[in-house]
Amino acid sequence: MKLGVVGKGGVGKTTVCAMLARTYARRGERVVAIDTDSNPNLAVSLGLSPEDNEAIPVLPRALIVGSPSSLTAEQLLAEYGRPTPDGVTMISAIKVTQAGGGCTCSGHATVRSLLGQVMAEHADVTLVDMEAGLEHLSRSGGTLAHTDVLLVVMEPSRKSVITAARTVTLAHELGIDRIFGLGNKARLPADEGFFADLCAEYDVPLAGVLPYDDGVRAADRDGTDLGADSGATIQDALDQVLAELESAWTLPSSQGA
Ligand SMILES: Nc1ncnc2c1ncn2[C@@H]1O[C@H](COP(=O)(O)OP(=O)(O)OP(=O)(O)O)[C@@H](O)[C@H]1O
Ligand SMILES: [Mg+2]
Repeated sequence: MKLGVVGKGGVGKTTVCAMLARTYARRGERVVAIDTDSNPNLAVSLGLSPEDNEAIPVLPRALIVGSPSSLTAEQLLAEYGRPTPDGVTMISAIKVTQAGGGCTCSGHATVRSLLGQVMAEHADVTLVDMEAGLEHLSRSGGTLAHTDVLLVVMEPSRKSVITAARTVTLAHELGIDRIFGLGNKARLPADEGFFADLCAEYDVPLAGVLPYDDGVRAADRDGTDLGADSGATIQDALDQVLAELESAWTLPSSQGA
């Protein structure tokens, strides 16, 4: 399964992506997590220190995986993949290191080519943490065209639900059929109703709602890892959402490309 995590800025994409990756890894699945944010933080949410995050090698920009003169997915994972404490293999795909250094489109082409490869031989679950906004859907070919599922994370704001609605439309145009909104940072129960109403109004299929979690907030502020204890409340909610989603996504791609 290849799953992209998208949504408006600051809604919790990286947090949710890391929690999903760790959940699957703890279940014994082989998980690859790809950070495509030019300001990468996913590795920290996966339990690496900021120093180790900085040391992760970034994929060369113009590398088209699987082309004759390039690397295979297997070679790329061996060369650029880095282990995290829960056993997730972390790939840092894009990073801006130089002011005025140009756009990141070629990095997105690299990610697109990697996702287009037969990842099933190397990973049971591949997760992609995206930069905020919609450009990954408009770029030539679409960075996420080869994903099976898109999770559009939302916070309890109308603008984030509208972003999700725009994402659903564009993703359908790319041929991605399974797109689900995921509410986050909800002050229960009032915000659950907000997500249900707005998603119905804007035609966003709502997968579930995750609570605002003080453990997540504290881990972020203290610079500590979101361990199993501090994240217990939100983890329970995520497990419930996953159980419902997994019954909805029968995935041909978990057997193939
Ligand atoms: N359920 C939650 N409860 C409390 N805080 C949360 C929750 N989810 C995310 N946060 C906090 O919200 C902030 C933004 O989260 P995160 O970085 O995951 O968002 P993002 O969508 O990836 O942001 P960006 O658009 O910058 O990539 C962080 O401080 C994070 O700790
Ligand atoms: Mg992020």
